[in-house]
Amino acid sequence: MKLKELESCLQQVDVFEEPKLLLEQYPTSPHIAACMLYTIHNTFDDIENKLIADLGCGCGVLSIGAAMLDAGLCVGFDIDEDALATFKMNAEEFELKNIDMVQCDVCQLELAAYDKKFDTVIMNPPFGTKHNTGMDMQFLRMALNMARTSVYSLHKTSTREHIQKKAVDWKVKMEVVAELRYDLPASYKFHKKKSVDIEVDFIRFSIT
Ligand SMILES: C[S@@+](CC[C@H](N)C(=O)[O-])C[C@H]1O[C@@H](n2cnc3c(N)ncnc32)[C@H](O)[C@@H]1O
Repeated sequence: MKLKELESCLQQVDVFEEPKLLLEQYPTSPHIAACMLYTIHNTFDDIENKLIADLGCGCGVLSIGAAMLDAGLCVGFDIDEDALATFKMNAEEFELKNIDMVQCDVCQLELAAYDKKFDTVIMNPPFGTKHNTGMDMQFLRMALNMARTSVYSLHKTSTREHIQKKAVDWKVKMEVVAELRYDLPASYKFHKKKSVDIEVDFIRFSIT
């Protein structure tokens, strides 16, 4: 599948009807999602026939793209039942069978139960910059525990140094694959502008 074709399919994925501020519900744009997945697939061969987890999957744009690129199975994890209901409808609409979902708090999952149970983890986690400081790192810790090979994640560029230190502590290799401008829609009342651009790193962590 070509990049443009993937992006145009992902444009048809429904997103959060009423995004919840406390859960940092902003969807990955079809363009960013397609570029991420295309790179994970073509450069690193971490999608086709792989068992994939998508943490904080929301309405499922990353899972759906991974399933279209022939993931063996992609399992989305999210705390919010409304988001998962939309995810389910999206998966049905695209008639994808290699997709599943679990409603849970990713930060409360038992580490041992998920230890190295997936080949690849993909995610756009909550950035953890409001009431929920450190949430991004809790997601990352869980992702690194779950993955056998690699984790692909989006993080605010301003947190890069902190993440680099953690990667050393946790003995994983990290590589900034791309620097993105992430357009946060002003779907939240406290945003005065129509949208806010923030700098975000697309990072690959490899488990050695
Ligand atoms: C930035 S959104 C990304 C949504 C989706 N992955 C995408 O790329 O469009 C973060 C997601 O994390 C979910 N979330 C927030 N806190 C969570 C938690 N503790 N456990 C599981 N999911 C959580 C939200 O409901 C939301 O869907």
